[in-house]
Amino acid sequence: MFSSKKDTETERQLDMERIPAHIAIIMDGNGRWAQHRHLPRVAGHKQGMQTVKKVTMAASDLGVKVLSLYAFSTENWKRPATEVNYLMQLPIRFFATFVPDLVKHNVKVMVMGDITRLPEATQKAVKDAIKDTADCDGMILNFALNYGSRDEITRAVRSIADEVKEGQLDPSAITEQTISDHLMSAPLGKLADPDLLIRTSGEERISNFMLWQIGYSELEFVPEHWPDFDGETLKRAIIEFQGRHRRFGGLVNK
Ligand code: FPP
Repeated sequence: MFSSKKDTETERQLDMERIPAHIAIIMDGNGRWAQHRHLPRVAGHKQGMQTVKKVTMAASDLGVKVLSLYAFSTENWKRPATEVNYLMQLPIRFFATFVPDLVKHNVKVMVMGDITRLPEATQKAVKDAIKDTADCDGMILNFALNYGSRDEITRAVRSIADEVKEGQLDPSAITEQTISDHLMSAPLGKLADPDLLIRTSGEERISNFMLWQIGYSELEFVPEHWPDFDGETLKRAIIEFQGRHRRFGGLVNK
């Protein structure tokens, strides 16, 4: 798999003992990638889907434990209907061809976001993929679909308030962990917070993605548009991550 000279050089620098456990990616630049080629925007999303396959396999091979991908935000509904419809078809096409590979690589599919607003066929494809990979215990491929972090936090606050109102929870007992436990990432347990957040295509924004969970994540903004991202650019991002000194507010370089 790693054949070119450049690959070998990159591998030399990669410390396989310090692979970030949870990598989150804001997959941006599909539209610009297509426009640069005089193609319709959706051609960028189609190519972006192929990148999802490549990067999933690369991350799994490197020993990443959770890969969270921002596939459709609560704000993406504002796009033209044709583009939204195309994006809604992508999970169907993706899982129709890719679930056997996911199972072969022991990758488990999970989802964050309110999928009840997605078309029935999309919901079914997502639920089937979750079911078909339920016994896999390798990397978790965590799709954010109709996900927005403010929406997630609002729902968590509402749910905590309900528990207080029902007398099940004392306000003084609310901790940071209580909040984490009510977020859509709660099923990820100790792995819920990304170690590394990557955004492609040069934009330097978080765009409502995992706002609570990235409190101490390393952030990387890379110039490649998402369809040009691959296992090699992922490794480069991890090498950059490994050169950073995470202190979590303390003083010790670990
Ligand atoms: C952002 O690029 C990308 C999206 C809003 C969609 C991301 C979706 C995929 C990469 C495919 C997902 C695949 C599966 C399997 C669900 P943009 O359109 O905002 O690009 P631009 O900023 O250049 O216009």
